[in-house]
Amino acid sequence: MKDQYGRDIDYLRVSITDRCNLRCRYCMPDGIEWLPMEEILSLEEVTEACRQAAALGIRKIKVTGGEPLVRRGCTDLIGMLSALPGIDQVTLTTNGILLASCADELCRQGLHAVNISLDTLDPVKYAEITGFDRLSSVLDGIRAMEERRIPVKINAVLQRGVNDMECIALAELAKNHKLDVRFIELMPIGYGKTLEPVSNPEILRRLRAHYGSERVIPDSRAHGNGPARYYRIDGFSGSIGFISAIHGKFCSSCNRIRLTATGDIKPCLCYSDHISIKNALRNGSPEDVKALLAQAIGQKPAAHCFENIPTVTERKEMSRIGG
Ligand code: GTP
Ligand code: 5AD
Ligand code: SF4
Repeated sequence: MKDQYGRDIDYLRVSITDRCNLRCRYCMPDGIEWLPMEEILSLEEVTEACRQAAALGIRKIKVTGGEPLVRRGCTDLIGMLSALPGIDQVTLTTNGILLASCADELCRQGLHAVNISLDTLDPVKYAEITGFDRLSSVLDGIRAMEERRIPVKINAVLQRGVNDMECIALAELAKNHKLDVRFIELMPIGYGKTLEPVSNPEILRRLRAHYGSERVIPDSRAHGNGPARYYRIDGFSGSIGFISAIHGKFCSSCNRIRLTATGDIKPCLCYSDHISIKNALRNGSPEDVKALLAQAIGQKPAAHCFENIPTVTERKEMSRIGG
C-alpha cells in the first residue's frame, strides 16, 4: 500500500517484547519496569496483525524487541509469520546472546537473515556498554549463523570516547567473514540523548584514511530492506553499511511501519502518534484490524523529528519501540 507521499509501505517491524537480557545505556535505562504480560500481544495476535498487514501489501517482516529471543515461542512465531500468504521474508534483529542455542530451530522455521548488535570486540568494554560480560556468547551466535549460511549483518553504535576507536576493528569483521558491518548513528531517543554520538560521515572519513579512498567504493546492491547505505572495501568479503538517521535523513524512501509489543502501530520511529490495534485484535474482526493498519499507513508523516524530541524522561526508550 502507498502512503500519502507515494512511498510503498511493504515492511513491518514487529517488536514482540520490551524485555531484554542486556542493558545498553542508549536503549534501556536503569530501573526500567517491564510491561505487564496482559498488555503484550500474544503470538497469535501478532500473527493475525501480520496476516492483515500482508493483505495490505506488507511483504517483509522484521522481528525485534527488546530482545526477541527472550520471548518464549519466538522461533515458532518466525515459522508462523514465514507461512503467511504474501510474506516473502522474515528477519530477526537480536543482541545475539541466545542465537547459538536456537540456531537449528531458527533455520528450521525459515529465518531469512539476522542482524546482530555488537558495539565492541573488547570483552571488558562489552560489559561496560551492555551491563553484562557476554561477548563470547554473541561471537558464538555469529558463528552459528555463519555455519548455517543465514546471512548476518552486524549493527554497531559508536559512542565518542567509548568505542569509536574500534571502528576499524569492527569493520575488519567484514574482511574476514562473509557478513556486513553497519554503523548506526546514535539516535537521540530516550537515553540515547544523553550520550555522545559519532557521525557516520566521520566514520567513513576514518575508513577512507585507513584503507585509502580509492579502495572504499559505494555499493549499490541491495543488502536488506532497511535504510542503510553500503560501501565495498577492496579485499573484504562483506560490505560496510551506514545507517545515518541524523546525517543522511532517509525518510523520503522509508518503506516501513512498526507494531509495538503492546499492539500500537507507529507510523514513524520518533513520533508519539500511534494507533492501537489491540482492542480490534481482541474484540473486533479481521476487517477492523486491516482498516486500522490502513489508517496508520495513511497517517505516516513525511519525515522524522529527532530535533524536536524534548526530554529523556519521555518514555521513548528504543527497547519499547523495537528500533
Ligand atoms: P534490514 O537492512 O532489512 O536488515 O533492516 P534494518 O536495517 O531496518 O534492520 P535493524 O533492525 O537492524 O535496524 C538497524 C537500525 O536501523 C536500528 O537502530 C533501527 O532503529 C534503525 N532503523 C530502522 N528503521 C528505521 C527508520 O525507519 N528510521 C530510523 N530513524 N531508524 C531506523
Ligand atoms: N540509537 C541508535 N541505535 C540504537 N539501537 C538501540 N538504541 C539506539 C539508539 N538510541 C540499536 C541497537 C540495535 C538496533 C536494533 O538498534 O544497537 O542494533
Ligand atoms: Fe537489549 Fe538491544 Fe536494547 Fe541493548 S540495544 S538493551 S541488546 S534491546
